[in-house]
Amino acid sequence: MRRLLVAGNWKMNKTNREAVSFVSELVDKVKMFKRCEIAVCPPFTALSEVVEITNGSNIEVGAQNVYPADSGAFTGEVSPLMLKDIGVDYVIIGHSERRKYFKETDEFVNQKVHSVVEKGLKVILCIGETLEERQANKTFDVVKRELVGGLKGITASQLENIVIAYEPIWAIGTGITATPEQAEEVISFIRSEITKLYDNEVAQNFRILYGGSIKPDNFEAIVAEEDIDGGLVGGASLKVDSFARLVEIAEERQA
Ligand code: 13P
Repeated sequence: MRRLLVAGNWKMNKTNREAVSFVSELVDKVKMFKRCEIAVCPPFTALSEVVEITNGSNIEVGAQNVYPADSGAFTGEVSPLMLKDIGVDYVIIGHSERRKYFKETDEFVNQKVHSVVEKGLKVILCIGETLEERQANKTFDVVKRELVGGLKGITASQLENIVIAYEPIWAIGTGITATPEQAEEVISFIRSEITKLYDNEVAQNFRILYGGSIKPDNFEAIVAEEDIDGGLVGGASLKVDSFARLVEIAEERQA
């Protein structure tokens, strides 16, 4: 069975001090959960200390963005090399907020994916449709375009270090969760597209998360779905108790 992943995307939240206090408490709260995988993705300013505090624990650490070059004249950017150097495990790429506010294209997202896997780091690649696209019956087209575009040139062995997060934009931060059936419908479609791009064995081992208004009271039904391998969590990852509860739910579901 695929290993479930519960990843917290903190977005632009928590000062360094708040991050340190949060993870110090979290380490203890989730230390008994060994079956599922746990990750937190703090802002850049807190990454280094969060990596240190979680060292030797069952919590991995992700960055929320990256620039696809080792170094150079890219004011304000952070490279995969720098992230690897401080011990980061994951990088979130292509989040809808970056696509929307920072105009990231599939091509740029794809460059980032390559630069991160080439450094041996793992990727959480986000894809998902807007409400207008869903209402115009374009969900599958959009998801397929972002999937194929984001994974262009990625080999089957590189894919082992990539996880997709399907995040319908209309469900992010809105309190409106996709129903488990809606999420499963798209996520099983993504798995079938992975079969077409690679093969069935690769697709069966490949992890696909759901993201969008996940809460302790809806997560159990979401991870009960056949193809959903965990969650990328925004708001509910900012409180130790709710995040730890989500991890516990994944742990119970994990065989
Ligand atoms: P919320 O869980 O706050 O809806 O955010 C989801 C998300 O965007 C995670 O990346």
